[in-house]
Amino acid sequence: MELVKEIKYSDTSSLVGFIDSKELWEKKADLYVADENTARFLNAEQREKSLILPPGEEAKTFSSVEKILSAAVEQQLNRSSLILGIGGGVICDMTAFAASLFMRGCRVELVPTTLLAMVDAAVGGKTGVDFRNYKNMMGTFYPAEKVNLALFTLEHLPQKEFLCGLAEAIKTALIGDEELFILLEDNRDSVLSRDLTLIKEIIGRCVNVKAKIVQEDLKEKGTRVCLNLGHTFGHALESVSGFSNISHGEAVAWGMVKASQAALNRGDIDRDFYHRIVSLIDIYGYKKDYSFSYKALLEAMGHDKKSQSGTIRFILPAGMEKYLITPLKDSLLQEVLQN
Ligand SMILES: NC(=O)c1ccc[n+]([C@@H]2O[C@H](COP(=O)([O-])OP(=O)(O)OC[C@H]3O[C@@H](n4cnc5c(N)ncnc54)[C@H](O)[C@@H]3O)[C@@H](O)[C@H]2O)c1
Repeated sequence: MELVKEIKYSDTSSLVGFIDSKELWEKKADLYVADENTARFLNAEQREKSLILPPGEEAKTFSSVEKILSAAVEQQLNRSSLILGIGGGVICDMTAFAASLFMRGCRVELVPTTLLAMVDAAVGGKTGVDFRNYKNMMGTFYPAEKVNLALFTLEHLPQKEFLCGLAEAIKTALIGDEELFILLEDNRDSVLSRDLTLIKEIIGRCVNVKAKIVQEDLKEKGTRVCLNLGHTFGHALESVSGFSNISHGEAVAWGMVKASQAALNRGDIDRDFYHRIVSLIDIYGYKKDYSFSYKALLEAMGHDKKSQSGTIRFILPAGMEKYLITPLKDSLLQEVLQN
């Protein structure tokens, strides 16, 4: 297998590439946005021009975006100014959202610092904030000019957050990269101990798969929804658990198991392939069973914003690098969720 040496991929308009700590410290921007955990990656000079927000999903609000916009006004930015967001998916989504609004759009670059943001959130141009209990209800499509992958930042990332990103990497492998799927099957221990050569390979491959999908369908009018494999089930689990104990990655991993069970029951995949998916999720330690009621999960699915057009459409695996988009009968959902 050829290793990804360097990504220089244009996902409609972003350039994506790896940078080291020196290159990050030399990055010049007019405003830096970080959170309390990622401000450590800025040097003293950069910090003078920075806005530091509280960490986590709770801060993913209009009020945080307003703070970014106020800082932009106070520091007299203009449309050709550059805002650099450095953090996980929350900071990346909000910084790019603010940049898309500031004077109808100024320049933005991202430095994702979680595995999830590197393999997923920072790539593909979706920006936004949560609104009235709905995740990412408000936002824009505004691809960053550049996505700078700084692997050294992962050194500080808690394992729970690392596993969140890994669940998305498993999903990406399933929908778009068989070699990545095999790499994850064969290298569990090295992946979990964050062997940097492997992590770089995983990130590079995920970016390439996502960028290809986004290039075809930036605004999610069709094929881009495949990136939601496992997410409809996963969001329901997050919702019934009160968005507290179960991480997004754990929920997505469980959601992939449920989507695979549905595909197996419908005859879309065979038992061997089903077991391969479940084993991969299992070896990385994700939990496959939760004891929430079928009714509560189904109700939560009904509230998912992706279902608001009426029918809930599920993304199911239909083989390696294959998926299908389909509604599921209540009887099948009951079978799968009660299993
Ligand atoms: N735009 C998209 O296409 C897209 C795709 C997937 C997810 N998302 C969004 O991404 C968000 C989740 O992203 P996330 O999982 O990165 O969460 P996050 O941004 O909240 O980061 C998780 C935690 O890790 C901390 N952290 C970040 N980098 C660190 C580092 N290197 N060392 C130590 N701590 C660090 C953060 O401060 C935070 O406490 C969600 O809001 C989701 O909606 C967006």
